[in-house]
Amino acid sequence: MQNSNSHPGKRVTASGTTMTEMIMPNDANPMGNLMGGNLLRWMDIVSGICAGKHCERHVVTASVDQVSFTKPIKIGDVITLEASVTRAFRTSVEVFVEVYATDIKGHNPRRSNSAYYTFVALDQENGTPVPVPPIIPVTEIEQQRYDAAPRRREMRLILAGRLKPENATEVRALFEAIL
Ligand SMILES: CC(C)(COP(=O)(O)OP(=O)(O)OC[C@H]1O[C@@H](n2cnc3c(N)ncnc32)[C@H](O)[C@@H]1OP(=O)(O)O)[C@@H](O)C(=O)NCCC(=O)NCCS
Repeated sequence: MQNSNSHPGKRVTASGTTMTEMIMPNDANPMGNLMGGNLLRWMDIVSGICAGKHCERHVVTASVDQVSFTKPIKIGDVITLEASVTRAFRTSVEVFVEVYATDIKGHNPRRSNSAYYTFVALDQENGTPVPVPPIIPVTEIEQQRYDAAPRRREMRLILAGRLKPENATEVRALFEAIL
């Protein structure tokens, strides 16, 4: 799981990526709200750019964790998407993306969505996964996201059928600490 290459590591801020979009009629559903699939696409793009900058190569989306759509985003609203790498594993990186919305005057600001994406760095020639640089958390929130990332990783690998629950040591340790 852990990155074992000799790269000294990179700061979270080195790959942080921000993207802004205005919601156009073509982006909306029949209710005049941003269609969820369009938002997921932009979240995928901004977090994929972030992951690619960290890995310094092209990456592919391996998974996206749970996303809720609780606050509608209307035609004419402006959204800002902010992505940052939370942790690098062996060939994959976890990216946290947050979405904020306002109207064009900057009024009615709200945090509308967030999600964790996982990207895998691939060799350009043969398309196989390759090791990625470690991430260096600096701030308190970066450290918190870094520390919790192995548990999220185990949960998504269990749900994907790639990890047996009995082998999820990080998740088990969390529950043992609580119970
Ligand atoms: C992602 C992909 C490269 C993994 O290939 P693989 O043969 O399973 O490779 P590995 O078993 O070596 O796993 C590589 C990494 O992917 C991670 N991974 C694989 N499936 C995952 C999933 N569902 N969720 C999170 N991470 C996953 C593994 O944990 C591993 O990470 P690590 O090296 O940091 O520990 C492959 O499944 C793929 O190409 N998927 C399609 C990607 C794509 O086209 N995305 C665009 C959307 S269609």
